[in-house]
Amino acid sequence: MQQADQPLAVLPGDNLTVALYTMRLIIERGLKARELFLDCGLDTRLLLLHHMQISHAELIAAPTHQLSEGDAAALTELAIRRGAGVPVARLVGEAEFWSLPFHLSDDTLVPRPDSELIVEAALSRIGGEATRILDVGTGTGCLPLAILSERPRSAALGVDISQGALAVAERNAHRLDVADRFSTCLSDVYDGVPKTGVFDVILSNPPYIVSNVIDDLDTEVRDHDPRVALDGGTDGLDIYRPLVAEAAPFLAPGGYLIVEIGYDQSSSVRALMLEAGFEPELLHDLAGHPRVLIGHKSEPN
Ligand SMILES: C[S@@+](CC[C@H](N)C(=O)[O-])C[C@H]1O[C@@H](n2cnc3c(N)ncnc32)[C@H](O)[C@@H]1O
Repeated sequence: MQQADQPLAVLPGDNLTVALYTMRLIIERGLKARELFLDCGLDTRLLLLHHMQISHAELIAAPTHQLSEGDAAALTELAIRRGAGVPVARLVGEAEFWSLPFHLSDDTLVPRPDSELIVEAALSRIGGEATRILDVGTGTGCLPLAILSERPRSAALGVDISQGALAVAERNAHRLDVADRFSTCLSDVYDGVPKTGVFDVILSNPPYIVSNVIDDLDTEVRDHDPRVALDGGTDGLDIYRPLVAEAAPFLAPGGYLIVEIGYDQSSSVRALMLEAGFEPELLHDLAGHPRVLIGHKSEPN
């Protein structure tokens, strides 16, 4: 039993149900101190399942399992860090995207559910054919790897300016058993992509936040996602300019350039696409915000 004047902690000998209860209190108190009032039930469960290396079904089957001293201390520490604002994905070192697990590191963005719209857009355009895909700014590799998991005849090249991110993308390709169809290359937009490379689809979720807005972002993003994955320069368009203007030589006739955009960037990125000779199409996310622009490269007559 904990004394009222002691800081909250999961104790050795506590069972899993008590541990969940205590962790949730620690997290909620930490967040409340930062004026964040969130339902932490799911976060608490994910942290406990991850640390104990058990499934939800195993948790339900063994709620009276008693904790060792080491596990109690580790669970307390995880709860304290979550309460201090560290996202669950950072604490467990992985995130789910397209219902698949992806390793993370300090060099990678946590994949966002909104970006699944890029995957949907690509899948609906490439059918079951042997498609060649290029992903610029691949991070964890979540976009091309999700597509390869659905299209066994497709292959992809993921490029990034961060060597650390590429190492994570390769690890993820192995984890998802598609490494034989996925390669990576260090590249500032297209400068490292082989000039002979021709792709049916170019994907990108580039950094697109306006530089001077980054300090105002939610701390869970600002303090834990790498700045190079967020910062789009003074108008947010630094990467879109070369990404769109230099895409055509890397795209096969009839190919698609599919990019994620910020909610207020549809007209500026659309203008870049028109200038580069693409026919743009805008897709909205579930919240109704502009989210993805697709540039179609026309076939010669
Ligand atoms: C918003 S993150 C997207 C990561 C991943 N594609 C996703 O959707 O979760 C942008 C990525 O672009 C990379 N990046 C930033 N500047 C780049 C550049 N000039 N050339 C290539 N990649 C760049 C970052 O390292 C980061 O991995």
